[in-house]
Amino acid sequence: MRILVINGPNINMLGIREPDIYGRDTYADLVEYIKKAASQLKVEAAFFQSNHEGDIVDAIQQAYGVYDGIVINPAAYTHTSVAILDALKAVALPAVEVHISHVDSREDFRRVSFVREACIDTVSGLGFQGYVEAMKILLKA
Ligand code: DQA
Repeated sequence: MRILVINGPNINMLGIREPDIYGRDTYADLVEYIKKAASQLKVEAAFFQSNHEGDIVDAIQQAYGVYDGIVINPAAYTHTSVAILDALKAVALPAVEVHISHVDSREDFRRVSFVREACIDTVSGLGFQGYVEAMKILLKA
C-alpha cells in the first residue's frame, strides 16, 4: 500500500514550537518515526509538509491515481479549510485525520474539524504514534 503523509502549517517547527504540547522531537524525527513503522507494516510512505493551504490542496489532487490512501494532519487548517475538505472529497481516497495533541481537550475552536467529514477516522492525542495508528486504519480499510 502506498500512503501519502501530509502535514500542514507549523509542523515543520516541531521541536521548537510549544514543546509542552507537541514534544521536543523535530519534523525530521517524525518522518523517521513514521518511516520505521511503515517499513514494519510493509507500507510505502511518502511525505509532504507545507505551510500553504493551496499547496496542500495541490498535493491532495496529485495523490489521485498515485497513492492508495492519505494520512493528513492539516494542523491549523483543520479548523478553517473548506478547500482541503473539498480536495479530499474530490480525490475520494481513504484518508485519516491525525493530530499530535488531543484537540478536543484544548481551546473550543480546535474541536471543530472541517476535514473530518472526508476522513474515515480521526486519531488525536497519541503524539507521533497517531500517524502509525492512522496507517493501520488505512491498511484495514
Ligand atoms: C494539531 C492541532 C491543531 O489545532 C494545531 O493548529 C496544529 C497541530 C496537532 O497535531 O495537534 O498546528 O493539528
